Amino acid sequence: MTTSSEQLSAEHYSATLIDHFEHPRNAGVLERADVDTYVTNPVCGDSLRLFLRITEDGDRIDAASFLSSGCPASIATSSVATELIAGLTLDQAMALNREDYTAAVGGLPRSKVHCSVLAAAAVRNAIEAYRRGDAKAQATA
Ligand code: FES
Repeated sequence: MTTSSEQLSAEHYSATLIDHFEHPRNAGVLERADVDTYVTNPVCGDSLRLFLRITEDGDRIDAASFLSSGCPASIATSSVATELIAGLTLDQAMALNREDYTAAVGGLPRSKVHCSVLAAAAVRNAIEAYRRGDAKAQATA
């Protein structure tokens, strides 16, 4: 089934969210990733795979990308998350929460607020996995 812009508008998504859903940033496998993490949302079964490349000094996120099997809200918040965390220190990225990603896509309908959990959980899970030297990690949001 295809989700059209008209359907998305009818669900009161912001123009920013629709843009990220229709034109996801940093979608795909990241070359030379230092960590590859997979997170599932137990509420709906949607999933997110997040890749991070870390700077050589181990301090900052050099680049991020994602693969999603999720709803428009989870795709958009994942897309915006990869933009927000690129260039941040690991501590700065760890401090971001789902409200930050939700705000960055212009808010979410009340029924979709839980969808931002995936991006937030994946970022934190990926950083924690990197810090413990676990290049491949799986978690539940
Ligand atoms: Fe599953 Fe949105 S409905 S993440």
